[in-house]
Formats: sequence, C-alpha cells, structure tokens
Amino acid sequence: MGSSEQGEHAIHMMSTEEERRYPPSAEFAAQANAKADIYERDFDEFWETEGRTRVSWFEPFNKLYEWEMPYSKWYLGGKLNVCYNCVDRHVESGAGDKVAFYWEGELEDTRRTVTYANLQSEVVRFANVLKSLGVKKGTPVAIYLGMIPELPVAMLACARLGAPHCVIFGGFSAEALADRASDFEAEILITQDEGYRRGKPLALKKIADEAAANTPSVQKVLVVSHSGGDVAWNEGTDIRYDDLAKDASSDPASCPCEPMDSEDLLFLMYTSGTTAKPKGIIHTTAGYLVGAATTHYYIFDLKADSDVYFCTADIGWITGHSYILYGPLANQATSVIFEGTPDFPDKDRWWDICERYGVTILYTAPTAIRSHMKWGPEYAQKHDLSKIRLLGSVGEPINPEAWIWYRDHIGGGKAPVVDTWWQTETGSILITPLPGITTLKPGSASKPFPGIDAAVYDESSNEVGPGGGGYLVLRKPWPSMLRGIHNDPNRFLSNYWSLFPGNYAAGDGARIDEDGDFWLLGRVDDVMNVSGHRISTIEIESALVDHPLVAEAAVCGRADEITGQAIVAFVTLKGGAKGSDDVIKELRAHVGKKIGPIARPATVVITQELPKTRSGKIMRRLLRDVAENRALGDTTTLADPNVLAEIQRQAQAK
Ligand code: WTA
Repeated sequence: MGSSEQGEHAIHMMSTEEERRYPPSAEFAAQANAKADIYERDFDEFWETEGRTRVSWFEPFNKLYEWEMPYSKWYLGGKLNVCYNCVDRHVESGAGDKVAFYWEGELEDTRRTVTYANLQSEVVRFANVLKSLGVKKGTPVAIYLGMIPELPVAMLACARLGAPHCVIFGGFSAEALADRASDFEAEILITQDEGYRRGKPLALKKIADEAAANTPSVQKVLVVSHSGGDVAWNEGTDIRYDDLAKDASSDPASCPCEPMDSEDLLFLMYTSGTTAKPKGIIHTTAGYLVGAATTHYYIFDLKADSDVYFCTADIGWITGHSYILYGPLANQATSVIFEGTPDFPDKDRWWDICERYGVTILYTAPTAIRSHMKWGPEYAQKHDLSKIRLLGSVGEPINPEAWIWYRDHIGGGKAPVVDTWWQTETGSILITPLPGITTLKPGSASKPFPGIDAAVYDESSNEVGPGGGGYLVLRKPWPSMLRGIHNDPNRFLSNYWSLFPGNYAAGDGARIDEDGDFWLLGRVDDVMNVSGHRISTIEIESALVDHPLVAEAAVCGRADEITGQAIVAFVTLKGGAKGSDDVIKELRAHVGKKIGPIARPATVVITQELPKTRSGKIMRRLLRDVAENRALGDTTTLADPNVLAEIQRQAQAK
C-alpha cells in the first residue's frame, strides 16, 4: 500500500453527504432474480447451491472449498469445461438458434449476428486450428486482438482445449505485450492484421511482430484477417488463420470439450501494481465461472429469454472477460459486442446501437458517462432508449451527478443504476446493489454481494464502524478470487495479505455509512485510475527514466473531470537541461511506446529539481499538491524549499 499519505488523502476526500435515495419500484422488485432473503443465505449454502445451479459439471464437486491463507481452492473434485458451459450445453438444450451476440464493427454496416450454434461451429473450428498447431491442455496461448468476433471465439477455443489464455489489451505497446507474453511463456500468439481506431487502421500485427521477436517462448503467430490490409509476413512463424480454418472441422464431435479440474488454470490477466512490473493474476476454472455467472445473473437481473445485454468494456480487461464473455454466455444471454468507440462516426453511436438491437441492460464506466454528459443529452435523445431497464457502472467511483445523469438521460429516469465494485483480482463483482432490493444511493456501491465478507479496517486492523473510513478488506475467501500472482508468490503475500494479516487488502479506501453501505474512495496505493484503467505511477516513472534525456521522474495523478484521474509527470533532465515543448512531446510519445497510449501523461512538468527530504526521498505528497493546484502540505522536511516554488511556477505555466 506504499504511501499511507495518499491513503489519508483518499479517505478524507469525501466531505459532503449524498442524501438522495432511490428505492426499487414494486414492478422491478416483483420480477427481480434476487429477492430480499438472498442476504440471509448461509455462506456455504449460497456458494454450494449456486455452484450446482449455474454450472454444468462433467463430475460433481465433493468439497465446497479449502482455505489455507492466502490460498483457496473451490469446488474440489469437480470436473467441468468452461466452453461447454458457455456454448455447447446451450446448443444441446435446444437454444442453438438463440443469438449469443450481435457484433457491431466500428465501420458502419459491418455487422454480424452470431447464434449459439454459429458460435459452437466457430469455436470448434478455431480449436481444431489451434490443435493442428500443437496446442493442447496446458499450452499457454497469448491473444492480442481487438474487439472482433474472433476474440471471444479464440478464448473459448482455448478453454475448450484446456489451454490457458492471456488476453493482452489491443492498446498495449509491443514492449508491454512482450513483457506479458514472456512472463506467461506463451507458445502461440494470436493476432489480427489490423484493427480500427476512429475509422483508421491500427497496425496490430506489426506490434505483435515486434513483440514476438522479443518473446523467445512464442513459436507461432496465428494471424486472423480483419481489415484485409497488407501486412509484413515472417515465413517461419506466421500462420494465416484462414488457410488452416478452411480445412478444419466445425463438428463438435471432432473436438470434444476437455474435462478440466475445478482448479486448473483458465487464464492470466495482467494488471498494474505498485512496482514497474505488471502482475499476472491467476484465475482458475470452476470458482471463476461460478462467480462470473452468479453475479451476472443476480446483479444484472438477467432474463435470458428477453434481455439484450451490452457491456461497453474491452474484452482485453477483466470486465470484458467476466461480463462480456464468461458470465453472460454461461447464462445464455444475448449480448452486443462493439468494436469501436462511443463517438465515431458521431457521439450517438452507443445510443444508435442500443436502439437498433433493443438493448435492455447497459454496463459501462463513469468516465464514459462523464464524456456523454459533456457532449450533452441530445445525442441520447435522438434515439429510442425506452427498452433500457437496468444500468451498471464499474471501474472507478461514480460521482453522484454522473449517476443521476445516467439514470435520467439513459435510464429514462427510472432504470436502477448498479454501481459495482470489484477488481481484476476478485474475478467478479463483490460490492454492489441488487436491483429490486437495494435502495440506491448515488455514489455508493451499497453492500457486499451475498457470500462475500467485506469490511473497512483502520491502520491497526480494527473494524471501522458506521460513519468511519479506512481500508477495504475481504475477510473470507470467495470462489472467483485470484489464486496468486504468476511466478511471484512472495509478491502475492506481501501485496495483498500482509497489511491486515489474514485478510485480503484491496488497495482501495472506503467509508461505511450509518446503514452499513460502502462508499468507495479510490486507490490508497501508488496506482492511478485513468478512465477506469489501472496504471501504476512507478511503471510510468520507469518508462520516463528509460528515455536518454531523463535524469529523474516522479509521477502522480490529479483529479480530472472526465477521466477521473489524469497523469502528471515531473521530470528533471540530464545535465540540468531546460527542455522544450518538443522534449515534452517526445517524452509523452516515449511513454506511449513503452506502455501504450493510455499511459501517456496528460501533463509533463520539466523542472530543475524534484522536492526531496534531507535523506533524498522524493516528496510525492507535495507533488500531488502541486498537481492538484492546492495549498501545499507540511514542507518542513524539505531539503530545499525553493525547489517547490519553482515547480509550482512551471506547473502553472502549463
Ligand atoms: C476501481 C475493474 C469505485 C478500484 C473491474 C479497484 C472502483 C480498481 C469500482 C480495479 C467502483 C472498480 N467504485 N472504484 N464501482 N470498480 N474500481 O482491476 O480502485 O481494472 O481497485 O478492475 O478499480 O480495477 P481493475
């Protein structure tokens, strides 16, 4: 949790009370999947029953869980396959003609409707192609694709074969991709020729090539054709998916679903922590699937027969894994998968999609809602959004104004908004309202989901009572929890389990109100949240000092109206060089190249010196004060108080 300074800042930040209350309507409550007695269910009974109800087992489990802090195992002795649960069983039960997802390309009029039967054929074909490349149970497969139909297909094909996957977000740079694929020891890398960003081609294959050249474990690069654009070709390693697919069988009997043990690895997902090295979060088979399916069913009140569900996340992040792919498909949902951005070709793109497909449930992030607020409600008003009956939010604390705007302008003034708190590590939503039960408070994620034991602790591990603030902890294991950090058990222990011994420390600050409702306050460690993306300050600092001109760098977040937080970098140059706008441009581009465009600092302040204590420690707390443009905190331990005045001058000149 690094600097408790930052924690205190987060915890004290919420000053005004939000008084508005939105009880569920009788109409919604009457039809809701979750009824009030769900909160009375016993922990073991809840996860046992949900485990048997939401998932089909090849062999039933014989023990609910084992807990040897910090490692848990769930549904022991069970055998199952995630692809079978998401695809085959629906076809076998007669739902083959039901739409699994509507795929909407970024370019207008590139659309596909994929039924469960289509999905099964595509997945089997893809799995047969992977098999022909030697992929089998346990082969690590890295996936670097945009939001194209082949992305869910490739993931499900891996799950079918029992090959663990690791999807790397299409916005990551070659270096970031190579770091992750190497740590995972990926043998196959799946990519596409090009993606699109605002109508322009995005060279995914080119980035994948650069990464593959620096990832010794990768033997083959499997290239899916999407744009049809020309790409460079490496004869030894590259394979065209289409060449192999045309002869591959799509008959499910040609490639049965591999029976997997409950605790077999399903995937790794890399996320930022408080060091420069991303963590490969381990998720296994049964607990993850039960967690994703159960939460999706109750929290989104999913009615498989009538709902059209649209989650705007990218499948390259955990939200897309759990709530575009695995949860919804396990529940036989009909979803929308959208390749593009909300404002291309115009700012009503999402609302056009919602109207056209008759979306009933929408799940998005506060940063997107704030962008829509800025653009104005007229874009939504152009479309018929009357089918929307439930709204979800994830990724960062949602400010009450955005919450109300969302409900009023997208939810027709009546759709409940579920503010869902969770993390890559938790695998599924842990703190959330339940629509039909919870009286909603804008800005509060409400209560722990049934079967989840969350609390707020102070620095000395005492539980904080109503009205207090502190650190969010989880006191009991849960099925979809991470099983560790790939190749780094010590970091797993020290990062999550050593701060409040015996409890999982989430790294978030939280307040608990008189009703026992949770209000999330943001990260209490050196991790920023920019447009819902987790980025560590240290990752960016090390990217900056990697540039030949840079001597030292300190990075922090400042509040931003749209993105939640924005990245501010304070940099000193070698030889005390003064810098220029061109240098700043170059440094921003360098970070983009090292990590990806999402990590580019919004502001770079070049300064002669960074504020330090007499022992030489950078005083980040003071830099945060400068970045936020507020009064400086205690400066008495500064070695040279003049340094700060100079930095303030520089920052204000921006
Ligand atoms: C933040 C995304 C407040 C939090 C699913 C957490 C939230 C981090 C919320 C995880 C929310 C996510 N309210 N904060 N509803 N949802 N967060 O791993 O700081 O990308 O620790 O998972 O996002 O980000 P991650």
